[in-house]
Amino acid sequence: MKAAVLHEIGGIPRYEDFPEPVAGDGEVVVEVKAVAVENVDKAMATGTHFASKQFLTQLPAIPGFDGIGTLPDGTLVGFGRPRPPYGALAERTVVAKSNIVPAPEGVDPAVAVALSSAVTGFAVRTAAELAPGETVLIQGATGVAGRLAVKVARLLGAGRIVCTGRDDVALQELRTLGADTVINTAVSDEALVRAYTDAAVGGYDVVLDFLWGRPTEMLLRALTPEKLKMAKPTRLVQAGESAGPALTIAAQSLRMSGVEICGVGKNLDATSMADAYNQVVEWARDGSLTFDLERVPLSQIEAAWQRTDLRGRRLVVTSSSEPKCATGED
Ligand SMILES: NC(=O)c1ccc[n+]([C@@H]2O[C@H](COP(=O)([O-])OP(=O)(O)OC[C@H]3O[C@@H](n4cnc5c(N)ncnc54)[C@H](OP(=O)(O)O)[C@@H]3O)[C@@H](O)[C@H]2O)c1
Repeated sequence: MKAAVLHEIGGIPRYEDFPEPVAGDGEVVVEVKAVAVENVDKAMATGTHFASKQFLTQLPAIPGFDGIGTLPDGTLVGFGRPRPPYGALAERTVVAKSNIVPAPEGVDPAVAVALSSAVTGFAVRTAAELAPGETVLIQGATGVAGRLAVKVARLLGAGRIVCTGRDDVALQELRTLGADTVINTAVSDEALVRAYTDAAVGGYDVVLDFLWGRPTEMLLRALTPEKLKMAKPTRLVQAGESAGPALTIAAQSLRMSGVEICGVGKNLDATSMADAYNQVVEWARDGSLTFDLERVPLSQIEAAWQRTDLRGRRLVVTSSSEPKCATGED
């Protein structure tokens, strides 16, 4: 069969022949229909993701964490965690039967697979327990996950939504998605601290952070009181690291700032993930949640993997036999 084959850590997957997968006990071979290429897949392939060693156990290997495909009887399913060295970016892959879920009915597989990024936006509720009307700051809102999070936060009842990014045009687009205030992080440290302070008005209740690194360091500076007083609590949820894998936190940034830091995984289990996914599918079906995606065939994986011009569009690798049914695209 054909697959996107990775020969070295940090390399570019190439469209090549790879041995057919064979199902072992409790496994099934899936005919792949659609796979969203996300930063996590690239971080796994470059060895920079904390779970890289778990999934890249040998080389050559096929990247791709999850996708939508069909079982041998033709049933359309969602699948995750193929057995290494098999990954999702192939004509066929092999997964444990326990890692199969029904695919949403009446939703284009390319849309259904990209919607998993919208589930991260649910962390404002699952991890941060957002109450209706609370102010939310989304860091890195011009990316795919960030744009979806803006819409999800709005649909979950957020009050003011403040968004950060680096591109003024993309930031203005966010206003049509539900952002009330936008902040460009590509300014001096002092200007950025001031922008976070000015945009906070009554304070940020929840921060969903896809950036980390310098912007979050400046945010913590902005949230640190300059006088001895009790600050309003801010639940900061760590979701990504587009601006850097680490940050330095001054002791005083936590001591009196009211900042509580947790990860998107807080309170997440199979049930809450399924509930969140079903809800975003429902929103995609009724048109309240739309987003941009770009489809490419598996044969173009080498060029697609290196794309840097997606500007908030999710790249979805599709098989040529994928059924068409437009739901969820802007
Ligand atoms: N934990 C989860 O469940 C989950 C799910 C999805 C994504 N993520 C993570 O979240 C992050 C974003 O994912 P994505 O799919 O939305 O990626 P994306 O579409 O590539 O968007 C990246 C975002 O980060 C910004 N950015 C990139 N480099 C930056 C830098 N050096 N300084 C400041 N801003 C920078 C981009 O701004 P521009 O628009 O200006 O380029 C954009 O807003 C990644 O780390 C990803 O792994 C986590």
